Amino acid sequence: MSNKIILKKKINEFKKKISIPGDKSLSIRWILIASLSNGISKAQNLLMSEDVMAALKAIRTLGVKVTYNKQFCKIYGVGVNGYKYKKGITINAQNSGTLGRLIPGLLIDSPIPIKIIGDKSLSKRDFKRIADPLSKFGANFNLKNGFGLPLIIKGSKNLKPIKFFETKGSAQCKSSVIFAGLKTSGKTIIKAKKSRDHTELLFKHLKLPIKIKKEKNFDLISIKKVKRIKPLNYNLPSDISSSAFFIALTILSQKSHLIIKNINVNPTRVGMLSILKKMGVSIVLKNKKNYKGELIADLNIKSPKYLKSINCPSSLNSGAIDEFLLIFLIAAKAKGVSYFKKLGELNKKESPRLKWGSKILKMMGVKFISKNDSIKIFGNPNLKVDKKIIIKNYLKDHRVFMTSVIAALTFGGEWHIHDKDSIKTSFPSFLKTINDLRK
Ligand code: S3P
Repeated sequence: MSNKIILKKKINEFKKKISIPGDKSLSIRWILIASLSNGISKAQNLLMSEDVMAALKAIRTLGVKVTYNKQFCKIYGVGVNGYKYKKGITINAQNSGTLGRLIPGLLIDSPIPIKIIGDKSLSKRDFKRIADPLSKFGANFNLKNGFGLPLIIKGSKNLKPIKFFETKGSAQCKSSVIFAGLKTSGKTIIKAKKSRDHTELLFKHLKLPIKIKKEKNFDLISIKKVKRIKPLNYNLPSDISSSAFFIALTILSQKSHLIIKNINVNPTRVGMLSILKKMGVSIVLKNKKNYKGELIADLNIKSPKYLKSINCPSSLNSGAIDEFLLIFLIAAKAKGVSYFKKLGELNKKESPRLKWGSKILKMMGVKFISKNDSIKIFGNPNLKVDKKIIIKNYLKDHRVFMTSVIAALTFGGEWHIHDKDSIKTSFPSFLKTINDLRK
């Protein structure tokens, strides 16, 4: 069966209510923390995607029993020191940066070497960023070319707490060190540039010994060793980064209206909503509630009459880091010139996304100037595409595939988009949800 889709027709106006699968960051974190707990944890609405399945497989490899069906996932936690380390263990993080970077933090005390591998995209990514701080605890690392995967980690019995200054705004680096701190006597201290804080919120909810002091640009976090962790039943809220494709679809369409239920609107994740507000689009949050420390709401989105350009403050980058491909499309339709800067981290994702964002704009005939870590987009409210566009060889980056679909459905043209299977990483039902809106 062909793994390419061809789109030739724009979407008609729609008025619908949709639901989106569970949050990926939270799903993976719940799995990891549940594996270390003393007892059975149960989740509902866990994201059933390849990244999350890889996390379940990883903890199974470490001797943790897991059962799941469509409704529930149960994890039989083995306790903080309960992993079974069998000789020759290999963990395959597949495409998941979150799994690949967080799990070494939990293996900080492994008595034997453990190999971590990943797919072609993940193997090219930077693992030195976690190996450097984790080595300071006392673990030993061997990284391919001193940088990537495969890596081998061997933990230590004599772990020492560290002081870590996280400067990239990477929640994965921060969380990896937090997990290592949980297994290390003494106080681990982290000064972290702002990034998503799901790990901290889960730890706080479980009353683990974590302290967080929020400063203007940084968070100061301290974490101590723990002996027991309570199991955690969790009903996962839906993912704002998956919702973002449908937010963009509504904004780039005409006279459409969409309600998306039960979304995790954690303030560290809603950068796209703040950017859109500055561009003149206001998305209404209804039924706000707090769920185990996370903020949840229904999103109410209407196609705007016009879009303003933006000079985007880089303080909004971290909260929108997974949404920039879509934000570039929206800027292409805005009136005026938009400017996005300090986006170097974007080229370190599943594919070099600043480059891919530029490539898509170029194929669409949008005028832009792109430098190392910035892009200026010359918007055109009447932008239409009327040629053939082929999207391929993009390292199967799920967000490149889904962004291309949104562009095809809103700007027109004939789009041949390869590697449809990439959506299995984060949003396997993406095309089904698109089809539901077309009915
Ligand atoms: C994630 C953190 C972000 C994000 C990724 C998920 C997480 O990566 O891009 O999709 O779950 O912690 P960085 O930590 O590299 O910024």
